[in-house]
Amino acid sequence: MDSLIVKASIGLVVAGALWRVARAPRKLPPGPRGYPIIGNLLDVPLDKEFWMTFREWGQQWGDVLHMSIFGIHFVILNSMEATKDLLEKRGKIYSARASLPMFEIAEYDKLVAFETNNKRWSDGRKLIMQFLTGKELPKLFPVIEDECAKLPAKIYKNPAKLGDYLEQGVVGIIMRTTYGYTPAEEHDQFTHITFKLLDEMLVAARPTNLLNIFPFMRYLPAWLPGNGNLRTALKFRETMHKVVDGPYEWAQAHKDDPNVAQSLCARFQNSGLDIDDRSLAEWTAAVQFIAGADTTTFTLHAATKAMMLNQDVQKKAQAELDAVLGHRLPTMADRPNLPYVDAILKETSRWHLLGPFGAPHMLDTDDVYNGFFIPKGTIVLPNMGAIASDPTVYPEPEKFKPERHLGDKPQLDSAQYNFGFGRRVCPGKALAQAEMFLVLATVLKVYDILPWTSEKDGVKAEIGEEREPSMDMPRRPTPYACAMKLRNEASYELLGL
Ligand code: HEM
Repeated sequence: MDSLIVKASIGLVVAGALWRVARAPRKLPPGPRGYPIIGNLLDVPLDKEFWMTFREWGQQWGDVLHMSIFGIHFVILNSMEATKDLLEKRGKIYSARASLPMFEIAEYDKLVAFETNNKRWSDGRKLIMQFLTGKELPKLFPVIEDECAKLPAKIYKNPAKLGDYLEQGVVGIIMRTTYGYTPAEEHDQFTHITFKLLDEMLVAARPTNLLNIFPFMRYLPAWLPGNGNLRTALKFRETMHKVVDGPYEWAQAHKDDPNVAQSLCARFQNSGLDIDDRSLAEWTAAVQFIAGADTTTFTLHAATKAMMLNQDVQKKAQAELDAVLGHRLPTMADRPNLPYVDAILKETSRWHLLGPFGAPHMLDTDDVYNGFFIPKGTIVLPNMGAIASDPTVYPEPEKFKPERHLGDKPQLDSAQYNFGFGRRVCPGKALAQAEMFLVLATVLKVYDILPWTSEKDGVKAEIGEEREPSMDMPRRPTPYACAMKLRNEASYELLGL
């Protein structure tokens, strides 16, 4: 009986949705008119951050915009409300990923992050969620604490490499928790090949690649002049396989090592979930590094930049750290008592968005929203850049103010958009937040991060990268130079030297 009621209810919901779509006028959301065939290709200026252009369009046409390029529909969401309405409340139909020919050929689409919403994707997500959230997450804290405790001494020996050490800390946490493998400090084989893969992914994702525009080219011989994208994608596939197989096989060969036995990789295999074969555990393990390394590292690079530029904020954080810790390094257990450090990270993620559009979702059935028709296959771009800089949400949005995240009426937490939406929301969110907290708290407890202007300021640490306007995710902060100074004589004792 119950099942009859459930079936009938589902039937009614489906019929309602079909009715909604069938009755609706086929009027697309507003947006610039565009040209035949190329659509709005020429409307998006390449010399500017795209999200800013979309924000300007929003002032003319509203929060939900439409554009098309070569017949592909895009819907841009300029407000949190519209983003939540579609990507969260209607998440069931807005959780697909568009396929990109170069990604398919390089087999990136076998990774949870790029796979469309099929069973393999939801199995992969289940694995990650099972071990990276809730009661399981604290099991990873000892590794985070151990990697963070190494940082102050490394920085002391060579402050110029601050940026590299932050990255090494993040990579160390990921490789140790995922495979039980401790990367070498210099020239680590697995680290090197994974960063090569990340660079290659950005190349493969370029919308200007001919193969991405004309997918039929994949069926032409790779040696054909003009078909270089296909040759490149096939080479990228080799790197992809090295990243997936290398550390996994290392872990198989060191099964008896207690660190490996407790690693995520071993727990994925023995999860008890009905996963198909070795392949899912292997690819899900690989995505930890691929999705977690640059994202976390670049946020930390942006946080140290924010500290350098906002000395008053840095001083407040250090006062909080001193009051809570006395004369010791922080641990994960201190986090509830260090809200200002947490607020700095929330503000960093708003101030330096890793990707102003996050990762695009794709709609997998026709829909209607606010009277506008959104066709199946539409790629949906949440304009996080517009949300993070909206003065009605964040007064004085250009200012770096952790205080906006504290008090009785905190402003919108950037974690509500920075980690994505709905069924696709980042499954590594809690881990990333934990590790970023401890890295930043540790560095600020021991060091002052100061602007570097000349030799008199000390050793120069250069971080960041000049970048072209693009849709890349994740992106580094723009370049800056800082100097690291021990806060006082007593700080030396915290180095453990
Ligand atoms: C500051 C750090 C990080 C940020 C800002 C971040 C942000 C994001 C965003 C925006 C997405 C796309 C969500 C969407 O499609 O709506 C995503 C997806 C994902 N992230 Fe993260 N992430 C971070 C760290 C991590 C870490 C540490 C891990 C793993 C250990 C991780 C694993 C993933 C995975 C597997 C996906 C794909 C989820 C899916 O498509 O279903 N991320 N992340």
